Amino acid sequence: MNTTVKISINGEPYEENIPNRMLLVDFIREVAMLTGTHVGCTYEGVCGACTIQLDGEAMKSCLMLAVQAEGHEITTVEGLAKDGELTPLQKSFNEHHALQCGYCTPGILMNMDEFIKKNPNPTEAEIRHGLVGNLCRCTGYAHIVEAVKDAAEKSA
Ligand code: FES
Ligand code: FES
Repeated sequence: MNTTVKISINGEPYEENIPNRMLLVDFIREVAMLTGTHVGCTYEGVCGACTIQLDGEAMKSCLMLAVQAEGHEITTVEGLAKDGELTPLQKSFNEHHALQCGYCTPGILMNMDEFIKKNPNPTEAEIRHGLVGNLCRCTGYAHIVEAVKDAAEKSA
C-alpha cells in the first residue's frame, strides 16, 4: 500500500507517493538522493550513521517510517553548511582530524550539532555520553571529543 507524503528536507519540499513501509533513511537516500546520510548497521538502530534532525531533534532515520515525517522539517548533513560556509562544528572536525574513513561522521555531526545547542559548555564526560549512540570504528573518539569541545567553546 502506498501513501503520498509531503516532507521538507533542508528547506526543500518533497511530495512523493511511496510505500507505507519505506524507512525515512531510504526516503532520504533513494528518493531525495541525499546520500550523506549513511546506513551502517542494516537498520538495527545501533550505529547512528543514519542520524538526522527532525524539527531540530537528532534521531536515527532507520528507526522511523517516512510517512511519520509527513509535515516535519528534516535536516541532513547536506543542510548544515549555509551558502558554502561550514558550521563551527564541521570546521572543528576538520581542524582536529576527527575522522578517518568518515563513514560515521555525518551521523555524529547531526547528533553533536543538536547536542552543543542544548549543552553549550559540555564536559568531556558529557560529550562522551552524548556520543553513545554513534559508533566509530576508526578514531578511538579522542579527536571527536576534542573537536566537539572546541566547537562548543567557539559557538558559546
Ligand atoms: S543505520 Fe545504524 S542506526 Fe540507523
Ligand atoms: S571515522 Fe571511520 S567509522 Fe568513524
